[in-house]
Amino acid sequence: MLGRKVPAVTFRTRVRDESVGGSNPFRWQDVTSDDYFAGKRVVLFSLPGAFTPTCSTYQLPDFEKLNSEFRALGIEEIYCVSVNDAFVMNAWGKSQGLENVKLIPDGSGEFTRKMGMLVAKDNLGFGMRSWRYAAIVNNGVVEQWFEEEGYSDNCDSDPYGVSSPQNILAALKSRKLAA
Ligand code: BEZ
Repeated sequence: MLGRKVPAVTFRTRVRDESVGGSNPFRWQDVTSDDYFAGKRVVLFSLPGAFTPTCSTYQLPDFEKLNSEFRALGIEEIYCVSVNDAFVMNAWGKSQGLENVKLIPDGSGEFTRKMGMLVAKDNLGFGMRSWRYAAIVNNGVVEQWFEEEGYSDNCDSDPYGVSSPQNILAALKSRKLAA
């Protein structure tokens, strides 16, 4: 993936809009890959599912907590993508009290498939989901790539380490020292 442009996809998000009225004032909003990635240096990380234990206990909250360290190293946004629809991703973000990490709903799996990271998780009743990976994406181009080992369908383990925020911060710091 190094040096490649992230796929051009339109994500179907749900945003709050008081003008909708009623007790659940949300509407659809299309957001493109360009909207998320153009002209910015960002961290993107992807995981197998909203509300799953490792993702909810470590990966997402740790990215949230380490936000200021990423910003100090020139990262302008932190994005978390998962093959889950916008309703699920919004509910997960609310339950996590997110302020820094932005959640990207890839409900159809189109972005994940075009990244080459879509795997079957039928062994868990999940269907098609994302392999765990992360990337530094600079103006839409992958600058650094962090993929967990053992990419495979129906994997009976859930490797997590390479794509952790701690590992990515260490890589960003050593790159800065080397520059
Ligand atoms: C976890 O984050 O712990 C997890 C992810 C996918 C399947 C099962 C668990």
